[in-house]
Amino acid sequence: MVKKSVFIVIEGLDGSGKTTQATLLAEKLSKSYDVLLTAEPSRGKIGTFIRECCLYEQTRLPTEAEALLFAADRIEHMQTELKPALDQGKLVICDRYVYSSLAYQGSAGLSLDWIKTINARALQPDFCVFIDVPPEKVIERLQRKRSVMETLETQQKVREVYLKYVEKGELVRVNGDRDKQAVAEELHVKVKELLGKAQKFNP
Ligand code: TYD
Repeated sequence: MVKKSVFIVIEGLDGSGKTTQATLLAEKLSKSYDVLLTAEPSRGKIGTFIRECCLYEQTRLPTEAEALLFAADRIEHMQTELKPALDQGKLVICDRYVYSSLAYQGSAGLSLDWIKTINARALQPDFCVFIDVPPEKVIERLQRKRSVMETLETQQKVREVYLKYVEKGELVRVNGDRDKQAVAEELHVKVKELLGKAQKFNP
């Protein structure tokens, strides 16, 4: 079992299959690593408040308030789960992180710099992946009750921000518009490549 802390983030639109992919990746990597699979909004107090009181309301909160709540949840998540796991040498896979705030709250009109500022204390991930599925497809897939974020227009704008970070080389794009096993395979290969490149993960 490899004991080297690694922090991987999986990003994507709602309904892009990122949670399934994060789970499949965790299963594969747990053969060699001690893995923690977690998500934001977290299961902590602030994350629970966000899920229960903000996401399924008639209207969105003021975007600044959304961004601050997600940033506050991130701090709590970091202190209670992410940091302790990384300190124990675990490989952490987090379903959504700071890029979700940049993409969702940024595309709703907030300055990306301000979002970065309020997230300045968040731990830096080692690798961030964007599971890319066309917005029309994700909206079609979302049969359940949709949250305030899940309109076609919002998802289109969110994807544009994610793609900017792909262009900058901060996010690695994986084509998510395929059979889930094919996506999982590509994701696994990319993560293994990335793990292999960084010497500290190659004892
Ligand atoms: P989601 O991953 O869909 O959670 P679940 O699958 O458990 O419902 O996240 C919920 C919503 O929160 C999603 O629409 C994206 C949004 N979100 C933001 O707008 N900003 C953020 O920083 C985060 C973490 C999530």
